[in-house]
Amino acid sequence: MRFSLSLAAAGLASVAQAQFLVSDLSFGHTGRLEVGRAIPNFAIAGTPETPQVLSNKVILTPPAPGKARGSIWANNPNKYATWVADVDFRVGGPERGGGNLNIWLARSGSQEIGQSSIYTINKFDGLALVLDQHSGSGGMIRGFLNDGTIDFNTQPNIDSLAFGHCNYAYRNLGRPSQIKFRQTPDNFRVEIDGRLCFESNKISIPPGYSFGITAASADLPDSHEVFKMVVMTENLSATVEGSPPMKARAPESNSGQASSQNTNNNNGDPNEMADVDAASIKSSEAQFRDLHNRLQGINHQMGSIFRQISSVNNMNSNRHEEMQGILNEVQAVLGRLNRLDALEQKLDALSRDMSDMRRDLKNKIHDSEMSVKSAMGGQHGNMLEHVATQTAPRHGKLIFVIVASQFVIVGAYIYYERKKLSPKKYL
Ligand SMILES: *[C@@H]1O[C@H](CO)[C@@H](O)[C@H](O)[C@H]1NC(C)=O
Repeated sequence: MRFSLSLAAAGLASVAQAQFLVSDLSFGHTGRLEVGRAIPNFAIAGTPETPQVLSNKVILTPPAPGKARGSIWANNPNKYATWVADVDFRVGGPERGGGNLNIWLARSGSQEIGQSSIYTINKFDGLALVLDQHSGSGGMIRGFLNDGTIDFNTQPNIDSLAFGHCNYAYRNLGRPSQIKFRQTPDNFRVEIDGRLCFESNKISIPPGYSFGITAASADLPDSHEVFKMVVMTENLSATVEGSPPMKARAPESNSGQASSQNTNNNNGDPNEMADVDAASIKSSEAQFRDLHNRLQGINHQMGSIFRQISSVNNMNSNRHEEMQGILNEVQAVLGRLNRLDALEQKLDALSRDMSDMRRDLKNKIHDSEMSVKSAMGGQHGNMLEHVATQTAPRHGKLIFVIVASQFVIVGAYIYYERKKLSPKKYL
């Protein structure tokens, strides 16, 4: 098993030399682990449970519960300048399950990184290879570098910090996948299942960093299993003792993906330049170039500072104008309010006038009513008198006519009676 792996590694590197196992940086290469026991030369930790060690794998995050974390860190740092490392892993979970697997080569990893992922780490010094379903990719492997100065947790967009990536749908394959990453004197290369994922000739991770793997699962958890991690090197005697120099960042590109082009990444870039030991600059031309680049960098930074200040100034004057406009409007409204006061007073006076007028009118109407009434009362009295005087004589005449006619009738009767008696005496 070990032999065939070594051969495969050597073949892929297209280097004639054989690779030798670095046993204190490797586990699982014998195909057997001690169930439930510690792994020699490695430290395992987890939240909420310590990862389970089975006979052929370490379960960094279990299928349930979610929101679990697990880590496995080599106790010893890597002492080799060139090496190749394989990690066999398997990730599975429900359809919408999630999480991430991070493979680290970092300074003081177990203390500084612990169980963190690339999304929860602040600063770290070294390399991180991250497998996750980055922005719905369905599976992606990305490489990140940090020299201990970049705080990943405060970066608005850590995706832009990746120096290389490739798509790889790693979930629910059922079989283990193998990620292989290799450092040679002039190249850093990442392969997945024997295919190139990305490589860069600008990256050189110095000795002194520790290998480690961390995994985190989401609410709907992916289980992350690691079958083995194997580190090999061409010459087991070619060790470099001591810790790596501080800020031994590989000359990574700032934003672009890993490529074979070796461009001056500070050309026109206002970002900070890496610190360089003055003693390392020997020739006067190199001195001049370094000074020139630094001055140029300072110039760019000054320019960006001035631009920012002037934009802040512009913003301030715009705000001032806005405020002035608002104040003017408020004043206009206040002026209108003053005029409203005058109007109110006028309305008051008007309503007083109106009520006076109404009272006057009422009095006048009352007076004229009274005078009409008294005038009408006099007319009535006259009228009655007039009627009495006009009608009385007519009644008298009538009575006279009736009485007189009675007398006439009585007289006529008496005459008739006398005439009737007298002819009888003659006959
Ligand atoms: C291995 O490294 C040691 C120490 O650097 C060196 O003396 C030896 O020649 C190297 N062996 C090979 C085969 O390169």
